[in-house]
Amino acid sequence: NHPFELNSKGHLEIGEVDSIDLAKKYGTPLYVYDVSIIRENCRSFVDTFKELGVSAQVAYASKAFSSTAMLQVIKQEGLSLDVVSQGELYTAIQADFPPNKIHMHGNNKSVEELSMAIEHGIGCIVVDNFLEIDLISKLLNKYNKTIDVLIRVTPGIESKTHQYIMTGNEDSKFGFNLHNGQADKAFLQLYNHENINFKGLHCHIGSQIFEADGFKMATTMLFEKIGEWNKLHGYTPEVLNLGGGFGIRYTKEDTPLPYSSVVKELVAKVKEHASLFDLTIPEIWIEPGRAIAGNAGLTLYTIGSKKEIPGVRSYVSVDGGMTDNLRPALYQAKYEGVLANKAAQPVTDLVSVAGKCCESGDMLIWDLPVPEVDSDDILAVFSTGAYGYSMASHYNRFPNAAVVFVENGQDKLVVKRETFQDVVKNDLSYE
Ligand code: LLP
Repeated sequence: NHPFELNSKGHLEIGEVDSIDLAKKYGTPLYVYDVSIIRENCRSFVDTFKELGVSAQVAYASKAFSSTAMLQVIKQEGLSLDVVSQGELYTAIQADFPPNKIHMHGNNKSVEELSMAIEHGIGCIVVDNFLEIDLISKLLNKYNKTIDVLIRVTPGIESKTHQYIMTGNEDSKFGFNLHNGQADKAFLQLYNHENINFKGLHCHIGSQIFEADGFKMATTMLFEKIGEWNKLHGYTPEVLNLGGGFGIRYTKEDTPLPYSSVVKELVAKVKEHASLFDLTIPEIWIEPGRAIAGNAGLTLYTIGSKKEIPGVRSYVSVDGGMTDNLRPALYQAKYEGVLANKAAQPVTDLVSVAGKCCESGDMLIWDLPVPEVDSDDILAVFSTGAYGYSMASHYNRFPNAAVVFVENGQDKLVVKRETFQDVVKNDLSYE
């Protein structure tokens, strides 16, 4: 059920490359991305908008996985880019990403971050709060520039049937509340600002969303507000950004609708409301992160020690863990995996996969069905392409793992494995 094949040796293949060869060549833990799947994911969004004949921008949310090579692929595919920090913006600039296609987020953007964004003439700042409006105004004066902005609003979507929707609810650190006058006040400041081009509204309702209902609900709420602003101030938005959050399949319990179906439904809703309020259809922007990178990546580990607790559980430990994939420890996220060197063998055992950090919660997978496990087997954990490398840490002074891209039978190292020198490089002596 994961988009990877077996080869004649019974080994797992990724991008037509034997995963065991990759583990030998680059060592483990190793993040491996099939670039053709990244491209396919990009195209499934872009092509759907094209098919529907609506103007759109698909911005890759680079928090899911940002590196120079990744942003180069995103640039090749013609997507825009969402950054949320100076580090992500710096990476984009290093990767020669066209600045006018970069959108900047953040609930506490610093003067340095905003200056860098304005100096480089990025495509859009998504304004989150009143302090930011002040800071942007001062910087635009200083640099004698103008900038396009969207306003981030929190629509207050909180329904029992939509518990997965977490960031669009009222009690959120992000954005201007849509219903208590905050958004109206911010709108007026931005709309009447002489150096700011107020392009439209943004909202992000949450992550790992499997169908279109939440996006449609958000669209309705945004249009109600737009309708008010249109009546009172003659305002027509050029852009409506519905954020990211398109879900992916981690395990067989996850059954997201195809992205094309979700996009079709949300576009239909935008069209319906534009016509209802007698407005021209705004350009639709979305910001998928996980949906672009998640299922394109897997992580290879080497199995080390084993511990059998008779009648209770078999633990097998790998050479990585919460330092390269924090999601199981942080969110109790579930993953599937296979023994990459025994991928054709029948499953006989159930093991729980532990990381090697000094922390009981450092478990990657509970109860994974596998063939008989030996030390030095290679374990592949699927769908680790989003929020794996990007949330990696140095806990227990682990160096960060390497990243390899594969495509059409070719492999290329795109992020070097950190060395122990890297780990101590910022330490200063106190002797
Ligand atoms: N746009 C905005 C404004 C966001 O806040 C996010 C995610 C995205 C786009 C991209 O969401 P995606 O399409 O990747 O779901 N670390 C968590 C996910 C946190 C996402 C935060 N914001 C995880 O590992 O599941």
